[in-house]
This record gives sequence, structure tokens and C-alpha cells, in this order.
Amino acid sequence: MKNFYLMLAYFCVCTVFSCHAQSIIPGKEWKDTEGNPINAHGGGVLFHNGTYYWYGEYKGEHTYRSPGVDWDCYRTDAGGVSCYSSKDLYNWKFEGVVLEPDTVNPHSDIHPTMVIERPKVIYNDKTGKFVMWMHIDNYNYWKAAAGVAVSDSPTGKFTYLGSMHPNGQISRDMTLFKDDDGKAYHIYSSEGNATLYISLLTDDYLNHSGTYTRNFPDKFREAPAIFKRNGKYYMVTSGCSGWDPNEAEYAVAESVLGPWKAVDNPCRGKDADKTFYGQSTFVLPVAGKKDGYIMMFDKWNKTDLIDSRYIWLPIVFNGDIPTIPWMEAWSLEDMGLRLFGKK
Ligand code: DGJ
Repeated sequence: MKNFYLMLAYFCVCTVFSCHAQSIIPGKEWKDTEGNPINAHGGGVLFHNGTYYWYGEYKGEHTYRSPGVDWDCYRTDAGGVSCYSSKDLYNWKFEGVVLEPDTVNPHSDIHPTMVIERPKVIYNDKTGKFVMWMHIDNYNYWKAAAGVAVSDSPTGKFTYLGSMHPNGQISRDMTLFKDDDGKAYHIYSSEGNATLYISLLTDDYLNHSGTYTRNFPDKFREAPAIFKRNGKYYMVTSGCSGWDPNEAEYAVAESVLGPWKAVDNPCRGKDADKTFYGQSTFVLPVAGKKDGYIMMFDKWNKTDLIDSRYIWLPIVFNGDIPTIPWMEAWSLEDMGLRLFGKK
């Protein structure tokens, strides 16, 4: 009976105060507004008409090792790409699986037996379309291609258009970057992951224009995440160690196509040399917040991939130098206080 009254009290308090999250706790299970763990891995965020849309890999329930593969090739069935929406960056509503897997055609790139990773979405102002690019692979990661899908609405459904080896090379870990002038770039690990390509997309964002650069040759960088601040471009990447963490590195450039100069590990504090046990996926610029950039990492749980967590941390600038200090919990207000020197 006592438990019943406690639950009733909790229900009343939650109804009155709506129990909305007001902080971000890196690495803790993050639930959507229906109370289910957010399932949007290797993702990115689009801000469109006052709403944030978080897209990510929709992992299947069951993690298994790809048979016959001699490295730590853990995976789940490809569940497509999910989308969550939010106005405040704390509370996320599940909008559904906006790119559904093709369960009918066993030869489809997006059949559950395939790999769909690191989806990112940008909006094309000229065509009015939402364009998604993603890493498409097969069970042993040998296909190494880039897939593209398109939608009229941020919440889909997206129509899958196909995959390619851009500029005649393989493509694995990837991100997108849309610049202030409307030009968009596909950034992807290529040449057996040894070299990172930055490739200008065509005006409709559906293809590669043929203009591209090779960056960090033979440095094996993956998990790229790009942002622009005060006219300079910054890129955070990881090394290549499968699902296991390694040390992050940031690089700077005056032009998005480079040349890029690798600088340092931006992470600070506990486990900074292991990226807090995370791996970069995206940098989220907070709308209307000067110097408000959130570094999004995935904390992979390779033997139970659906339970991989999210580590979101504010980027703190000392002049032109970005650092990512570990924080147990934080809020956007903290971010303002830190950035304006009151903390
Ligand atoms: C590291 C990549 O960053 C992930 O997206 C995923 O492809 C794993 N490798 C697979 O081992």
C-alpha cells in the first residue's frame, strides 16, 4: 500500500511538473519522452524551423559477431535510421524509423543483414529536400560504400536512392557539413580507412561534384565531426580501433577542403586519453548561443550495441583553442556561465 501511495505521489508530481529533463548526464541511459532508451547511434542533429532532429542508427535488440570474420566484428541487424525531435535538447520525442530497412529484397543495401551506420541529414534550401547520407556496408565491412536517401519532411519517410564509391574510392565512417554559403561536403574515411576524404557535393546534395581533397594520408582517422567558428573550421576524429575507444584529435583549417592541420587531443580530465570511453560522431551548434557547440560521442557497448550510450559535452574555447572537459552533468545554462567566464 505504501508503494502505491509513493507511486501515486510520483505520478502527481510528474504530471504537475511534467518531469522534464533539465540537464545532460553523459554516459547515463537517456530516455525519450515515452520512457524508452533513445536508439540513435552514430548520429547527427539537424536544426530546422526551431526544432532539433536527431538521426541515428536504429540498432537491433540482438548483438552478434559476424560469422567467419576474424576481427571483433560485433553487429546487430540493420534497423534503419531513427529520428527524435526536441525543442530544448534535453527531452526527445521519438518520430519513428524514418529510413526503414528493406526486409523484402535480400540484395538491398538496407536489408537487415547489411550495415547502416553514421547517418547525417542536411536540408537543401534550393530543392526543399532533406538529404541523408550514411555508411552502407555488408556483414564483414568490405562493401564500404556511401548511401543516400531523400525526403520532403524532416521526419520522413526517407526514400533510399542507392549507394556508391565516391570519387572511385571506398567510403566508411562519415559525416556531412553544410557551410554558410549553402555548399555541402561529405567527409569520409577512405583508401582502406588510411585517408580522410572531403568531397564537395553537387548543388542538390545527391552526388559528388568531383572536387575533393585527401587529408591526413596514412593517419587512419575515422569518426569525423566538423564545425565552423569565427570563420575557422574544426574537425574532431578518432583513431581506428573498431568499437574500442582511443584518443581523439582535433584539426583546424581556413577552408573546409583544407589543408588541415592536426593539433591535439581536445579532451580533458578523467579518461581523456580514451575520449571518456567514447568516439566522436557530430558537433551540434546550439541555435542562438554564441560559442555554443556540443560535442556528441558514442560510448559503444560492443557486446550489447543497442545499450551503447551517448556522451554529450560542451566544447569550451580558450581563444581559438577548443577543449572538451569531462563533466558528470551539465545544462545549457552552465554552458553559458562557463563560456562567459562566470564559473
Ligand atoms: C568504428 C566505427 O567508427 C564505427 O562506426 C563502426 O563502424 C565500428 N568501427 C565497427 O567496428
